[in-house]
Amino acid sequence: MHVAAPRATAFLERLIRAADDDERLRAVVAELPLAETARLLVEELVFRARRPGNTHPVPVGLDVVSGDERASFLCTVVDGRPIEVAPGSTADRVGLRVEYDVHQFARALYGRYSGHAHTARRTVPLYGKALDGSGVPRIELVEETPKAVDALLAGTEPGRADLGELMARCGSDKWGGLHWFARRYEEHFSRFRDEPVRLLEIGIGGYQDPDEGGASLKVWKHYFRRGTVYGMDLFDKNGLDELRITTVIGDQSDRALLSEVVERNGPFDIIIDDGSHKNDHILTTFAALFPHVRPGGFYVIEDLWTAYLPDYGGTAGPVAGPGTSIGLLKTLLDALHHEEWTGPGAAGSVAESLTGVYAHHNIAFLEKGVNREGGIPDWIPRTPTW
Ligand SMILES: C[S@@+](CC[C@H](N)C(=O)[O-])C[C@H]1O[C@@H](n2cnc3c(N)ncnc32)[C@H](O)[C@@H]1O
Repeated sequence: MHVAAPRATAFLERLIRAADDDERLRAVVAELPLAETARLLVEELVFRARRPGNTHPVPVGLDVVSGDERASFLCTVVDGRPIEVAPGSTADRVGLRVEYDVHQFARALYGRYSGHAHTARRTVPLYGKALDGSGVPRIELVEETPKAVDALLAGTEPGRADLGELMARCGSDKWGGLHWFARRYEEHFSRFRDEPVRLLEIGIGGYQDPDEGGASLKVWKHYFRRGTVYGMDLFDKNGLDELRITTVIGDQSDRALLSEVVERNGPFDIIIDDGSHKNDHILTTFAALFPHVRPGGFYVIEDLWTAYLPDYGGTAGPVAGPGTSIGLLKTLLDALHHEEWTGPGAAGSVAESLTGVYAHHNIAFLEKGVNREGGIPDWIPRTPTW
């Protein structure tokens, strides 16, 4: 039985949340046959693998065990090609077998960084069995196996990939030329790194081409190793759906549709608007989706430069008007200070749940929370007396 992607993602969400609690983890793992759980975990491992340094194909055995049960896979790893995974026993063909207890494997992939990851696996060198015609282990296998294994198991190691490097590797334009957003994202997102976040990004990339795009969805899937990632685009991108990545087709200017998307998949810890960059769309999307960001989360608007482009509904000249993304940020700065207002004006739910407006060049982070600290008290003079 193969579990369909949405069901598998739902299963993984339960697994991720249980990963640090032995009893809960055992209960979730028991929901599926070992072979099926093992397949999902191996898929995650392969997704996270680093580019291998070996130039000869290296077969690596990967066994996932639970009591007397065992699910075996043969992974063929070589630079320049996707890792191939075939189910089945491998003992006589590989240079090295890696063995994981299924619970330890799940914890190494999805648990909080706590040291478990270091000890979760057992490695069984089998070079002696992978002989050439003269009875000697093939030298390239001996030399190249560590490189292949290091790349394959990278996703279970506590070392955290630098976000800029991740963006460049996945082909996202968020870092390294067009934009320099990685540092800003790192500043605001690093605290969620170990959390089972739900993230929605508007704008998947690739425009009309159904097979193009998804670079940033992959970045977030890597970065939030316990997260669930949703992408929405005007064009159908369902070819990019995979474990922990779900795509939705839709126009961000359609409020009813946005409501449907959040009803079905929200609330979200993080929402990123990297869609049309048209100013009226940015405002509509913010109004529809900000209420569905969880307290403590962020709503991000990229590409603020279009606030100055009339063809995007922006304003020519140095002062962006009220209907633009920059205009929205100015309004939000006022909203952030609703408890200090002196004239008439009613604070709405946005004002009461906005706790931070962080603007950087071309990107803004709007923090969600409870904005009711209390204003400056009445006894403090409202008129300067000096
Ligand atoms: C800049 S790309 C997104 C890049 C992607 N976020 C990344 O960083 O890899 C913008 C995407 O927004 C989509 N888009 C344009 N107008 C849209 C709309 N009205 N609603 C939803 N998506 C839209 C385009 O099809 C395109 O794929």
